Amino acid sequence: MAKSSRPLQVLCVVGARPNFMKIAPIMRAINHERLGLSGKLLHTGQHYDAAMKASFFDQLNIPEPDVDLGVGSGSHAVQTAEIMKRFEPVLDELQPDAILVVGDVNSTIACALVAVKKAVPVIHVEAGLRSGDRTMPEEINRVLTDQISDLLFTTEKSAAANLEKEGIATDKIHFVGNVMIDTLRFNLTDAVPSKATIDTLLECGQQSDFSRGYGLVTLHRPANVDDPVVLERLLRVLAEVGTEVPLVFPVHPRTRQRIVDSGLDSLLAGTAFYMVPPLGYLEMLGMMKDARLVLTDSGGIQEETTALGVPCVTLRENTERPITVEQGTNTIAGTDPEKIRASVREILDNGGKSGRIPELWDGRAAERIAEIIRCKLEEQHQ
Ligand code: UD1
Repeated sequence: MAKSSRPLQVLCVVGARPNFMKIAPIMRAINHERLGLSGKLLHTGQHYDAAMKASFFDQLNIPEPDVDLGVGSGSHAVQTAEIMKRFEPVLDELQPDAILVVGDVNSTIACALVAVKKAVPVIHVEAGLRSGDRTMPEEINRVLTDQISDLLFTTEKSAAANLEKEGIATDKIHFVGNVMIDTLRFNLTDAVPSKATIDTLLECGQQSDFSRGYGLVTLHRPANVDDPVVLERLLRVLAEVGTEVPLVFPVHPRTRQRIVDSGLDSLLAGTAFYMVPPLGYLEMLGMMKDARLVLTDSGGIQEETTALGVPCVTLRENTERPITVEQGTNTIAGTDPEKIRASVREILDNGGKSGRIPELWDGRAAERIAEIIRCKLEEQHQ
């Protein structure tokens, strides 16, 4: 079809688990008939396991991708290059009016880089977040994607300041709120009750001390799980926390592999620190909502716990989401056992930070994004 005779088309890209909850409300908003836009979905295939992909598409009602590049895993270079190679012919064929990428995973930068060189406008949702730590692969992906994006949507005000420091023109930047929190609000009433999840995952004997509540743990950052010394230090202090409040640990595949490879699984046997498979979105939401505390190195979970008012201890030295510390429930503890113990103590004894909901985390970010995209694309085509 000739470009001019069809609705303006936005090709939305997803690749990895944290992208799925961001794209769900964006696809809904872009395809709202009122706007007259057409949103197509492309999945790079970076995450492919049922637990890492299919359950999210089902639970979040994300349409089946129009295109699946099926790239799978690989080193950063192999994965990024493979996405680029497979994306280019698709872009040539579909000729969208813009592509939209979310977050900071390898799929984000790979597709943005292909599009910008073909003069297809790039829209980046969740732009401008900076940890200042360039050893994180995601930080490199963020900085580079923002540099080549034409339209940048931000979740918190600090992001615009970061972008301006890096020379991005202010008229490209729009503060719209947080699409991840759109998904959280949209699905909160359907969250699977934590009791049901715990009953399914743990045996009766393991559940006895859950009357005191529980904590939830996630760990998958290379800096935490790739070095066996750091991983062991973290697992030991978490097993110790488990003696005060039982901990449920849905384990990302890369983390499980590292734990097994380093023989550290024996460390957790017989403790109240329970490794379970990755959870679906609605199970995870229910588990977060009811937790006494969450210990994590994930970026998205720092935001979700702030939105839920649940205390969060971040097992990293920095965060690219400072609003979760300044206004929300987040405490940065890093990987020092003393700091982790002190942060947990404060939460168990005094309840931790209650926080408040950041500006525009109101469940309507995707609607704002779709409206701005429509205006900008129409301007371009006049
Ligand atoms: C990726 C993102 C990270 C995000 C995380 C969420 C980058 C640079 N990193 O990291 O920002 O927080 O996703 O989950 O893009 N694997 C499976 N099944 C899958 C996918 C992966 O078993 O469906 C295993 C493979 O062994 C693979 C490893 O997990 O090698 C890592 O997957 P990969 O996509 O490379 O990065 P993540 O660590 O998941």
